[in-house]
Amino acid sequence: MIAPAELRHLASRRAAAGDARRELVADARSAFAADVRRDLQRRPRQLQAKYFYDALGSQLFEAICQLPWYRIPSAERALLEAHAEAIGGLLPELATIVELGCGSGAKLALLVEGMRRAGPMLVRLVDISATALELSARTLGRLPGVSVVGHRAPFGPGLRDAVTRRSAQGSMLVLFLGSNIGNFHPTSAIALLREVRDCLRPGDGFLLGADLVKPEEELLLAYGDPVGVTAAFNKSLLERINRELGGDFDLDAFDHVPRWNAERLRMESHLVSRRDQIVRVPLADLVLPLRAGESIWTESSYKYEPDGLVALARAAGLVCRGRWIEPSARFALALFAG
Ligand code: TRP
Repeated sequence: MIAPAELRHLASRRAAAGDARRELVADARSAFAADVRRDLQRRPRQLQAKYFYDALGSQLFEAICQLPWYRIPSAERALLEAHAEAIGGLLPELATIVELGCGSGAKLALLVEGMRRAGPMLVRLVDISATALELSARTLGRLPGVSVVGHRAPFGPGLRDAVTRRSAQGSMLVLFLGSNIGNFHPTSAIALLREVRDCLRPGDGFLLGADLVKPEEELLLAYGDPVGVTAAFNKSLLERINRELGGDFDLDAFDHVPRWNAERLRMESHLVSRRDQIVRVPLADLVLPLRAGESIWTESSYKYEPDGLVALARAAGLVCRGRWIEPSARFALALFAG
């Protein structure tokens, strides 16, 4: 039997843990509110793409990945299937994999299986989405010899956390797949790649996936599918603002508009106001007048030429050790050393 004093102690510990969790949620919410307030008042008006990935947004993104017009996942899957063994061959001592932005875990599972390794493998997943971490851990946990640790954090801090905990034995492979790199402005992309480079020891590797420049019609379909899933994904950010910050965005008063910026080699996703309107977001202390045709810019997806990708990595001090290109959807995987 548990003594009453002990029960009280347990109850108060549980209450303290609950308080700590509530505090974390409140902190995250006020950071979201501050970002929404600042970014919607900037010109051009914008929102940060990292806020897409709550439970609803993460599931809608998984649905985008099932669309035949969004070919990044299938092209990357084909490359991983075809070349996992070759990639593994370039990393003979591999014992740890760190994946930045893990998504569903399906691609990493393909890579690990395709490498045909006998020894144990420790996988560290870095993602800001709790849903992605759960999905991924479930998929990878089923593989024999693989243990999984999740780091719920942005890429930079998550990577540093994962690297400080790495074991002295074996080499490490850092993965940045799915053209996540495309969502960074080239200057920030180089800064992030430099952080990766600074974590690599001799014998380690960095595998980067990047979507390549392709005909505009294909890009417009990939980022504006006829089923409307991408539009739903983009608008889900407004719905999140309504839900979490008490906003009154009328989702029907916006169009999802994908644009190809040929000069900067990037796809841009916009939410364009269909009419003059005033939106209120009380918990962000914001009253936002929008004119008809005015847009809120939610995401950029930079596309690369193969040589441009290698040059970008070289600017961060990374040396290319191999690259593989899927010719039909135009997608590249490249392996680098520090
Ligand atoms: N990171 C993905 C990409 O750039 C996200 C994405 C796909 C996206 N479709 C979108 C973001 C549409 C905003 C709008 O490919």
